[in-house]
Amino acid sequence: MAGLTFAHHILLPKPSFFLHSPKSLTKATNGFNTFLRRHKSTQTISSALLELGGVQISKQDVVRDEPTNNVPDLIFTKLGLQLHRRDNHPLGILKNAIYEYFDSNYNNQFNKFDDLCPIVTTKENFDDVLVPADHVSRSYNDTYYIDAETVLRCHTSAHQADLLRKGYSNFLVTGDVYRRDSIDSTHYPVFHQMEGVRVFSPKDWYDSGMDGTLYAANDLKACLEGLARHLFGAVEMRWVDSYFPFTNPSFELEIYFQEKWLEVLGCGVMEQEILKRGGKTDNVAWAFGLGLERLAMVLFDIPDIRLFWSTDKRFTSQFTKGQLGIKFKPFSKYPPCYKDMSFWINDSFTENNLCEIVRGVAGDLAEEVQLIDNFTNKKGLTSHCYRITYRSMERSLTDDEINQLQGNVRDQVQRQMNVELR
Ligand code: DAH
Repeated sequence: MAGLTFAHHILLPKPSFFLHSPKSLTKATNGFNTFLRRHKSTQTISSALLELGGVQISKQDVVRDEPTNNVPDLIFTKLGLQLHRRDNHPLGILKNAIYEYFDSNYNNQFNKFDDLCPIVTTKENFDDVLVPADHVSRSYNDTYYIDAETVLRCHTSAHQADLLRKGYSNFLVTGDVYRRDSIDSTHYPVFHQMEGVRVFSPKDWYDSGMDGTLYAANDLKACLEGLARHLFGAVEMRWVDSYFPFTNPSFELEIYFQEKWLEVLGCGVMEQEILKRGGKTDNVAWAFGLGLERLAMVLFDIPDIRLFWSTDKRFTSQFTKGQLGIKFKPFSKYPPCYKDMSFWINDSFTENNLCEIVRGVAGDLAEEVQLIDNFTNKKGLTSHCYRITYRSMERSLTDDEINQLQGNVRDQVQRQMNVELR
């Protein structure tokens, strides 16, 4: 089970990779080409150009048949959609509600960014926020690489350092983020995050009698408790100590919702090194990151993460700009279809690779991929049995259609993963 999260159970219900031993990393071998340099040479070839954050992107810039590229076609089709910028979409409504909280409590001091290009360098995505060189999030199994030095951002924290260097001190960054992952109702390889950063100067904490770190941590907690009340009303909350490479101390906020403790966000006092590199040596800052789908699923009662991508009017017409309280009414539930497949795995097998193949074949018809049996025989061979659930959110699927999908999945799994089907 690989999940690219930076702390225990933070934005998605996955165990942290900090709890597992580090996996071996496939180091990319070639290339000093940055995206931008390559981008210039390919720009003229393409007819379908996306405009993102002032950068024009063509498919050839993102999906390439090279060993250092692991971006599938399906991911390219999501790049320009920017669900978080649609005022009538649950993610846009939630983003705007958070904006409203910051605007009214901080006198419009927060600069808001929601159109920064999701194509970033490994330096921005990892090094600038102090993610260690051997951290599992850097692996090709967890992150989409365009080339050895360019990725689809796996978190909005990728923009922290750059915005600090540009002189911003209070800002919110909302954007689509990309992670190779497993398949179930709360995981999708593209989702949305919002990052918040606030920088303090010595004069801010001087009169408080506290040191800068304690002052920032208290301010952070008060701010985020207020945000949670703004979104959820009078809820019970608790703070849990956590770990992130970019903050110290680090915390998670949990709220008690529908009889469960729900992780809402990760945050902390920014590592001094990040500020120092941004030219802010005497300052202290806080930062937080939250997953918009996670919160929107709870706030709008949305049962499956694939629905956010639906263009079905029965979904899209249920939401209205500015209305956070609306509960989604499921329009119908079509029957699921289960297909099992067993194979002997090899050393390079990963569940994320399997899921990538399933998504490539079945797209959003794949609802869940679940390991249901796992054993090792006397010869030391390990067998996995996976159950794939196929279901459309919008229509009934025919037996023929599903058999064909499953046949294709079996074919591709055998061919691409070199495993022995049983
Ligand atoms: N980047 C983290 C993640 O994707 C979330 C996060 C945690 C962002 C703590 C922050 C932070 O800015 O301070 O899991």
